[in-house]
Order: sequence, then structure tokens, then C-alpha cells
Amino acid sequence: MVRYMVTSALPYANGPIHAGHLAGAYLPADIFVRYLRLKGEEVLFVCGTDEHGTPITFRALKEGRSPREIVDEFHEHIKTTFERAKISFDHFGRTELPVHYRISQEFFLKALENGHLVKKVSKQAYCEHDRMFLPDRYVVGTCPYCGAENQRGDQCEVCGRPLTPEKLINPRCNICGNPITFRDSAHYYIRMKDFEEKLKEWVEAQKHWKPHVRNTVLAWIEEGLEDRAITRDLDWGIPVPVDDEDVKGKVLYVWFEAPIGYVSITVEHFRRQGREGEWKKFWLNLDGQTRVIHFLGKDNVPFHAIFWPAFLMAYGKYRDGEVEAEWLLPYDVPSNEYLNLEGRKFSTSRNWAIWVHEFLDVFPADYLRYYLTAIMPETHDSDFNFADFKSKINEELVNNLGNFVHRALSFANRYFEGIVPERGEMDELDERAFDEIERALKETGDLIARYRFKDALKRVMELAIFGNRYFDYRKPWKTSKVDPVRTATTVNVSLQIVKALGILLEPFLPDASERIWHLLNLEELKEWKFREIKPGHRVRKATPMFRKVTDEDIIHFIVNYIGRGNPASARVLLDRYYKREEVVKATLERSINREESLAILRSIYGEEIGGGTEEPRKKEKEGKKMEYVDFEDFARLDLRVGKVVSVENHPNADKLYVVKVDLGDEIRQLVAGLKAYYKPEELLNRYVIVVANLKPKKLRGVESQGMLLAADDGKNVALLMPDREIKPGSKIR
Ligand code: 2FM
Ligand code: ZN
Repeated sequence: MVRYMVTSALPYANGPIHAGHLAGAYLPADIFVRYLRLKGEEVLFVCGTDEHGTPITFRALKEGRSPREIVDEFHEHIKTTFERAKISFDHFGRTELPVHYRISQEFFLKALENGHLVKKVSKQAYCEHDRMFLPDRYVVGTCPYCGAENQRGDQCEVCGRPLTPEKLINPRCNICGNPITFRDSAHYYIRMKDFEEKLKEWVEAQKHWKPHVRNTVLAWIEEGLEDRAITRDLDWGIPVPVDDEDVKGKVLYVWFEAPIGYVSITVEHFRRQGREGEWKKFWLNLDGQTRVIHFLGKDNVPFHAIFWPAFLMAYGKYRDGEVEAEWLLPYDVPSNEYLNLEGRKFSTSRNWAIWVHEFLDVFPADYLRYYLTAIMPETHDSDFNFADFKSKINEELVNNLGNFVHRALSFANRYFEGIVPERGEMDELDERAFDEIERALKETGDLIARYRFKDALKRVMELAIFGNRYFDYRKPWKTSKVDPVRTATTVNVSLQIVKALGILLEPFLPDASERIWHLLNLEELKEWKFREIKPGHRVRKATPMFRKVTDEDIIHFIVNYIGRGNPASARVLLDRYYKREEVVKATLERSINREESLAILRSIYGEEIGGGTEEPRKKEKEGKKMEYVDFEDFARLDLRVGKVVSVENHPNADKLYVVKVDLGDEIRQLVAGLKAYYKPEELLNRYVIVVANLKPKKLRGVESQGMLLAADDGKNVALLMPDREIKPGSKIR
């Protein structure tokens, strides 16, 4: 019997998980795995956090924290978020573990021993200002393949090509914004040529892959594969396991060791259970029965379909005292496209995102799972849209599914005291109901097995639609008065449909499925197989399955969650759907702390919210007499033109940016409260006016060495900018 080794891409432990991540690699894998488990298949589902590489060190650097602090925090955070979203990993591990170091180093040494690695000295990106090498994401520039600007040195987000910093056009340091230089550095490279032919043959044979994925991968291989460095100049990561001065202090490339994480996490899983050797049947080709399936977002495809298989080939045969076998190459790499939010790409840096942990504070996991499955970006990018979310939940989940379950249970209680009645004679429609159940199981299962989760969920909902139609047609509220046998049959059949829905929903909405099982008072284990509920069985009282999503819920989420992190994004979303008065009213009605709510509303809409704030300002103004200053007083201010070279979010304050400005002879760091008014790209490369001799001051832990001049009318803020290009450092007189 086939055995399944299922993985979801290991998320970087450098931030929370957003809905785009969930819909891309985690929810589909979970639906697939839950289905296989119900079918009684042997399946193992692993994931964990990816804790090395520049995504981690970059965040650590920006926040002035250690990489370890970052990964420890986000490992726990992400793990908890997945638990709350009901993603049912058998094991959620991490790559910052000794077992992972050991196995990754073993992969490196095996590849070296087999002659697939070469050491080369080459020019590597370096920043003279930050005095460090700049691997991967430390460099930004223009993609040489597709021309997309502002791409990071590991991969182009637009065309998906893996990159190296040296390849970028107009490369800049991602830390300080300065142009980069190059310095010699020695690294180990994997000779991709060794695998080109084998990879090509192998990919060609994978006829069951999504055609689009298979074709793209083949095209990349056919262009010719270049050697890729698998070590990095970083001080955080897995040490290169060779005694060689040239690479002393360097670490393994994160994309070399992260996929090995799938293996090391499996090893750790079985070790903890005292079943040490069992990992082998999931990763080695021992009996030809295991399928390794990697769920991922489309950006991860080249790493899983080209590099990872090459690393597995480079290892050669695995041998220990017990077995000798080849590593299994991926059986499939089901990948999804991207999810957008209200028409714009999810963006962590601009905080344009639905953070899963926040969403789950307001809405049940089932709602998120339902909606994300319904809009899953399986074949093309799709859009998370609040109006659509509300209507899908209310019309489909509540009105269709919830309503049917509730009706069936209510009538069983009303007319039969909660005891499942015997059926009378069955007519064609009753028979058809049982056919529908069988067909729904078969067709939904087939769709899941083909990774067509959106259609699979639709198929489940069709059974609920059938249930409602059946019920409407039978009209038990009428037949109960004249035909108790007919009514008994109707209620019996309806309860059977409810039970089938309990099974069918499990992969998608595990909580709803549990609730159905509870309402039906069933103790048997769920299986992907229909067995009738026997007459005489007692069901529980009907309680509503779901609650409708209201505008107040959505306003609450946008104001108190999105608004807290990014007032400007909240404003865009609110303006799309609601009038300001509605928002203020709904927010204050729900608020526990009025002052805090008002403060958030003000940050979203400007100062005038809540009344009482404008008056004192006016009075203050009127009460003050004009006060003159001498020209000397003015001249004491050193006002200069600066050019913005970088804009980062402040690590500890939601409304602040950390802006670096070129003053001609130096780069200054300023902390500015501009986030609600400007996007980083609206500031980058602009000329601004800086108070250059303002006493430096720490703002929420980050030093501000001056101030930007801006106009403020209480609602809006506008930066002062020279009306033509002028040398940075020029004096204002
Ligand atoms: O893109 C990412 O988020 C990577 N951390 C995925 C790694 S998948 C695997 F190879 F570990
Ligand atoms: Zn590109």
C-alpha cells in the first residue's frame, strides 16, 4: 500500500504567518493529509520553522536583537498559530536543533566525498559602509532576467528565478542603501552540471505534476544549470563541516539545509517516540511504496524541483548497518500561486496583510479555512476581499450548511424526541439521497487527491444544497400532521445526510465536523466511508452551527488589528466599505477602553475623531500672542537638504519609520512619524529638509539624529521638499 510523506514548506522564523502563506502551503497540505487519514492511508505530515539565512539575520540586525531571540520567538509564535488554524502536523520541528546540524553536515560531506562540490574564490557582494559581506537578501537591485526592480539577491519575486547578489543590476546594500562593492571570498559550490541530465530525465517523467510547473522547471534546466554556492559569509547558521581556513567561520546556505529539515524533523519525530529507525521508510527507497509530496508556494518551486533533488542525488546511497538505499526524490511538488489582499499583493514590509493569529482572535478557524479554501490560488492569483468573505460565510456556510444541519436536528427533536426514527418505504428521491452521499464522498475524494481543493469544497457544499432541497420538497412541517411515516423517513434521511457532511467536512472544517459528530452524538471514529445512523440512536438538541459575520466584526478587525499595526492600510480598507461615522460608532460600541479606541481611530482618520480634541487646540492658538525671534535665533538652526536612501519600519513603534538620509558628507539616521502618511517607496530617493543640528534623541530605542520638516494640518502631514533636485547637504537660508 502506498505510504505518504507530506511536507509543507518550512516557514522562516522571522515573522508571523499571514493568510497568503496559509492558503499557499499549509491549508492545502492539511486538507490532503486529513483526507488520507480518513481513508486509512499511512501518512506522515511534517513541518517546522526555517531558522537560518538572511531572512533571520536581517530582521535581527534591524531590531538590534540576536538571531536566536528572533527564531525562538517566532518558532513558538508560528507553531501556536498553526495549532489555532487546526493544521494537523504530526510534528512541527525546527532547524535550530543538533539533529538537523548533524544531518545537514552529513549531506555536505557526502556530496564533497562524491566529488560534487568544488571550492572557488570569487567576487562577493560587500558593503564598505556596514563592513560586511552581503549574501542573499542583504542586496537589492534589478532582476537581470525580467527587469523587476527592488528584488532581493536570493530570488526574484516577479519571475521566480533564483538569483545571486552579484547578478542584480544596480545592486545596493539592503541595510544602508549604498552601492555595493566586491571582495574575494571562498565558497563551496555544488556542480549542477553533474545532475543536469538526470534532473531533466526525472522531471520529464513526472507526468503527474501540474503541467505549468513541470514545463517551467524543464525550461530552467534546459537553459543550463550553473554551479550554486552552498556556503555563505554569515555568522548565524550551520558551520561548514570542513577543516579549511578558507571557509572558517562560514555557514551552510539556508536553501541547502532547509529542505534537509524535512528529513531531520522526521528523524526527530520518530526518535521522540522511541521508534528510531522508522524515518527510513519515509525517505529512502526501500520498497517503492513511499510518495514524498512537498506542498509549497510557487516561489519555492525551483528549490524543491531542481536544487533539492540535486542535493539528494549528490549524497548518493544512504548506508548504515541495516539498510543501503537511494534517497527518494519528490513525488510531487503541488504549488499554489499568490493570494492578494483587496487587489494588492500581501506585503509584510508595508503591513498589507491578514495576520492569521489576529484574524483568529476575531473569527473562528473554520471561517478562515472555509474562505481560504473557497478562494485558494490554485491555478492563478486570487484575492482576499472582506465583502466576499462576509458573503461566502453568511450565504454558504451559515445559510446553506448551518441551516440544513439545524433543520434536521430540530425536526428530529421536535417530532421524535431526538430518537432517530425508522424509515418507511423509500421512494426514488430517498434512494437518490443515498446515492448523493456516495457520490459526494467519491467525487470529493477524487478532487482532493488531485489537489483540487476549491472544487472539492464546492462538491461538499453541493450535498448540503441537496439536503436543503430535499427537506424543502418533503415539507416535514406539513407531513407531520398527516403522514408520520413519511415524516419519519424524511427526518431519518436528513440525519444521514448530516452525518455524511460530518465526514466530508473533516478535511476542510475540522471544528464544524466535530460539532456535527457531537450533535449527532456519535462516538465512532470518522472514516471516509458512509455507515448509516441506526434507528433508535439518540441525537442531541439542535444548536446553531455558525454565527453570521457582521459588518461590526469586520470593522472591529480592521480598526483594532490592522489599524493598530498600520493605520494607513486600515484607512484604505475602511474607506472601501464603510462611512466614517459607521466605523466610529461600531468601534466605540465594542470598545473596552474608550481612550485607546479613540486613539486608534485618530491614527486612522486624523485628529478630529471623538470631539473635544480640536477645541483646546484652537484656544491654545488664540491665547498665544505673536512672539518674534531674532534672525540669529533662526540662523542657529542648521537646516539642510537630504536625500532619503532607506526607509525601514521602526522595530518597536507602529507609526514610526527609521529613515536614512544622505547629507552629502554623511548618512544620517532619523526616526520619523510618517508611516500613516507615506509608503516607503514614496519617500525613497526624495529630497527632504533636515534639521541637522537637533540634539540626537532615542525614540523607542532607536536614535534619531535630527528631524525632517513637515507641515501638519491636524489631519494630514506633508513633507517639505525642495522643488528641484539639489545637492544633498545644501544649506537652507
Ligand atoms: O520561502 C520560505 O519561506 C522558505 N523558508 C521555505 C523553505 S522550504 C524547505 F526547503 F525548508
Ligand atoms: Zn525577475
